[in-house]
Amino acid sequence: MTAASWDELYAATAMPCWGANAVPAIDIVKMLCVRQAPRQIIDCGCGDGRNLMQIAGMAPVVIGADISAVALARAHTILKETPAVLLYDDVCASRFVDGSFDCVVALEVLSHIPRVEVALAEMRRICAPGGYIIGDVFGVRDATRDVNARCISSGLYVDDRDLYYSYYDRDALLGVLRSIDGCVLNSIKLLSWDDPPHGQFRPYPHRHEAWCFVLHRRRDRDL
Ligand SMILES: C[S@@+](CC[C@H](N)C(=O)[O-])C[C@H]1O[C@@H](n2cnc3c(N)ncnc32)[C@H](O)[C@@H]1O
Repeated sequence: MTAASWDELYAATAMPCWGANAVPAIDIVKMLCVRQAPRQIIDCGCGDGRNLMQIAGMAPVVIGADISAVALARAHTILKETPAVLLYDDVCASRFVDGSFDCVVALEVLSHIPRVEVALAEMRRICAPGGYIIGDVFGVRDATRDVNARCISSGLYVDDRDLYYSYYDRDALLGVLRSIDGCVLNSIKLLSWDDPPHGQFRPYPHRHEAWCFVLHRRRDRDL
């Protein structure tokens, strides 16, 4: 998968690509922000900004990052005067220095990354000690299962645009999260919701399912 595949998908789709509503996991992000009052938040793989719109204003510094230039340009238009910075950054090889953020978010992104452990390790690296990582992955009944994709290895699928998809049950996700050093699992929750038609690739109502998790990066003194 390359940024070009995502660019192509965004370019072929009426905006906003994923619908106007933020994903339900946004409530978990907002609740955490209210409790922890983070100073810097990054929304990794922000796409055209439906979740970022809700996060903006919850910290003095809010950044939306993506590898798709087309998505970032769309986000720029959609977010208008929303207080956020948009920039190119790869969640698997971030340009941010260690501990740059006290809240690192990736929603509807990690199941599209062929090696999710690499992304999670990088999210941990840019998360400050004492900070939080909030992400989600597709559950096994997510609607993207109807995408015409071929299985290339256990649990990993690729479609004809070269976009990846992976699906998790609770134990599979816990196995991945346990491999991330220096973090404790704060919560894990299965969310499901009905999405109205959106984009040219899913012009019919469908039901999503995602496991949302919150990891707390321990401070050195907690280790
Ligand atoms: C399904 S979309 C979700 C977008 C947004 N988070 C949302 O929920 O509307 C996945 C996004 O992840 C981005 N993405 C994929 N791989 C990435 C990577 N390695 N680093 C940063 N963004 C990535 C894609 O460009 C795309 O915008």
